Amino acid sequence: MVLKDADSSFVDAMVCLGDVIGYGPEPNEAIRLIRERNIPTVMGNHELGVAECDYMDHLNPIACKSLQMTIEMLSEESLSFVTGLEHFLVSHDSRFVHGCPPDSPTIYMFDISNVKMKNIFGQYKERLCFTGHTHNPEIVEFDGDFVVRSLLKKGVTSLGKDKRYIINAGSVGQPRDGNNRAKYVIWDTANDSIELKHISYDIESVANKILKAGLPSINATRLM
Ligand SMILES: [Fe+2]
Repeated sequence: MVLKDADSSFVDAMVCLGDVIGYGPEPNEAIRLIRERNIPTVMGNHELGVAECDYMDHLNPIACKSLQMTIEMLSEESLSFVTGLEHFLVSHDSRFVHGCPPDSPTIYMFDISNVKMKNIFGQYKERLCFTGHTHNPEIVEFDGDFVVRSLLKKGVTSLGKDKRYIINAGSVGQPRDGNNRAKYVIWDTANDSIELKHISYDIESVANKILKAGLPSINATRLM
């Protein structure tokens, strides 16, 4: 549904911020969609768990069990796609990373203090950085002196000309912001704005597939 919505919004390009796999019932299909469309994708922490077994120890027990089951489901082709992902991408003069800039698939933005955040803005040069990982849409603004963090609300947010931003796009799957619709953002380069979209989809059907696949039932209930 998110890809359909992006198509009907006539976006010129897409970037995927990682965690294509991990909790869902159709990991190969999810990867196939990304590959068919040649969507540049960064490595999420769940893909990192596939690439580096040691990282599995850092996942909570449900995520770990889900990922072990996911690995069993993955085709050779999918495994090679997942393990070959980069930790960050720079494209359209912007940076894309799953967890926290400059290049971490694992650090959660909510673990970063404002003082640390200022330091992080100094570690890369792009004006915009897009992230995910927390499943909570957020916009972090930096004017060179101060860091201001706000919830990224549904709809259009205009960007300030002389400011830099970290934009957390939320999550297509398993939202954790109290709203069960899938989230993604459209960056309008002409108007210099970000639009957070909320997309309805057939949650019940996905939840049933999760249960049928034998994945932890919380993966299904968390979608509601
Ligand atoms: Fe993640």
